[in-house]
Amino acid sequence: MSDYQQFIHKIYKKTGLDLSLYKEAQMKRRLTSLCQKRGFDSFLSYFHAINKDQQLLQEFLDKVTINVSEFYRNPSRWKVLERNVLPVFKQKRNKIKIWSAACSTGEEPYTLAIIASQIWGSHNIEIIATDIDPNVLARAKQGIYKERALQEVSDPIKKKYFHQEGPTFKVDEKIKRTVTFKQHNLLADKYPMNVDIIVCRNVLIYFTEEAKQTIYNRFSQALAKDGVFFVGSTEQIFSPEQYGFRVLDTFFYEKQA
Ligand SMILES: C[S@@+](CC[C@H](N)C(=O)[O-])C[C@H]1O[C@@H](n2cnc3c(N)ncnc32)[C@H](O)[C@@H]1O
Repeated sequence: MSDYQQFIHKIYKKTGLDLSLYKEAQMKRRLTSLCQKRGFDSFLSYFHAINKDQQLLQEFLDKVTINVSEFYRNPSRWKVLERNVLPVFKQKRNKIKIWSAACSTGEEPYTLAIIASQIWGSHNIEIIATDIDPNVLARAKQGIYKERALQEVSDPIKKKYFHQEGPTFKVDEKIKRTVTFKQHNLLADKYPMNVDIIVCRNVLIYFTEEAKQTIYNRFSQALAKDGVFFVGSTEQIFSPEQYGFRVLDTFFYEKQA
């Protein structure tokens, strides 16, 4: 077994995180630079250090779980959701259940909550927001952001759904109450079921083809009838029909009955 393979195996035993399901070249490049930056000449010696030092372990996990996010990331896609996808659901459903999978620091589920509450009202929406990384979830629960995260947010939305406190913006309590954050590993844990909309963006690009296929199948099972799967702007699905999906719009897939 190569140095990297042994490292992956040991990390899996220690943390439950299976790096073999992430694209190898990309992950290896990222970890090699971190390993070298910390002065280790092999992955194995890096593991022994991680094993003893909580801070090093945290730094490693942060590197693996790239956390960048922002409100209304790729705004034109959110317009499709708001103008085309959700109004169709409104005709069929009095309530809506949405899952933001790999939600990072919360910008994505709060964007969903803002949009959906304008259509259903905040009492009729349920948003489940999950991520593997407990640190980002702790930040997401606080709901406090720097202006940079809000660069795609219009002024009226900013005024209505955020409270400015000096240089930071706090998400309104009514919006916060619609979102439930939970730790969840897409590669290992049980999925929520009967979900109307699954939003999973900018994480599947890091996984191997096999891992992606398993996840697409599991998302398809997790969706309710006519449910919609919204992917990231570089993450179009190849042959969606093999997972029981049909293309609804670019980056949106509908579960076939
Ligand atoms: C780049 S962020 C995407 C955030 C948001 N979805 C967006 O598009 O702005 C990727 C997130 O995927 C999470 N992640 C990585 N591996 C994961 C896994 N196996 N299960 C669940 N989340 C994972 C990371 O912790 C990180 O917060």
